[in-house]
Amino acid sequence: MIEELLPDSVVAVEAYGDDPAGQAPLYPEEAALVDRAVAKRRREFAAVRSCARRAMEKLGVAPQPVLTGERGAPRWPSGLAGSMTHCDGYCAAALVRLADLACLGIDAEPDGPLPEDVLPAVCLPEEARRLRRLAGDHPGVHFDRLLFSAKESVYKAWFPLTGQWLDFLEADIEISVDPGERRGGTFRATLLVPGPRVGGRHLTHFQGRWTAQRGLLATAVTVPYD
Ligand SMILES: CC(C)(COP(=O)(O)OP(=O)(O)OC[C@H]1O[C@@H](n2cnc3c(N)ncnc32)[C@H](O)[C@@H]1OP(=O)(O)O)[C@@H](O)C(=O)NCCC(=O)NCCS
Repeated sequence: MIEELLPDSVVAVEAYGDDPAGQAPLYPEEAALVDRAVAKRRREFAAVRSCARRAMEKLGVAPQPVLTGERGAPRWPSGLAGSMTHCDGYCAAALVRLADLACLGIDAEPDGPLPEDVLPAVCLPEEARRLRRLAGDHPGVHFDRLLFSAKESVYKAWFPLTGQWLDFLEADIEISVDPGERRGGTFRATLLVPGPRVGGRHLTHFQGRWTAQRGLLATAVTVPYD
């Protein structure tokens, strides 16, 4: 699912269910990061790292630990950028060589409504108007949850480039539905704060893709150099 949202240069590996049988063990330094966590967190932490190691192998990079850096961001082997996501019943890791892309972010969420009290905290008035229009034109997709996922993908791509927090209300997301597709499309995130410099230009927006499949919503943002 996630691979469909990403260019060919990106290697993505995903797993459905808890998939403990397919999981490689954690490295001791990874295990130490979750030794006090609840079992669910330990399972998802291990499952997504298993995906990340398979992605490293596919890229021709020796599998190695994925430790946690500043503000929870994953630390990738030198020369690589990547992103990981987990939600109930699904996890995915996507990796790319820095020669091919400056950065990327992926996110997956259950395709269900966003809790009512969350929406006002993450959604600009203009986004709320667009969500109502989308819901009317394309019933069957929870666009409020999709907006949330798109913002999390934006943050996962933004953070490695800036090392800074980005608030939910600091990017304005416009979602488009692919003609004839109805359960997939693109989105554009216009930054409402100054963007980082990438490839000699200041980023003003991020571009992403989304899909709704198998009861899940997935989003991906990629940042090319030009
Ligand atoms: C960090 C955050 C985006 C994670 O999203 P989530 O839906 O809670 O969880 P997911 O399972 O999809 O992703 C978790 C993974 O995100 C990655 N992640 C965590 N912090 C990160 C950061 N600062 N930068 C990049 N990736 C990060 C990690 O790989 C983590 O998995 P791990 O802990 O097993 O290593 C979210 O918790 C958060 O803090 N959001 C607030 C900021 C934001 O989204 N702003 C919107 C700007 S428009």
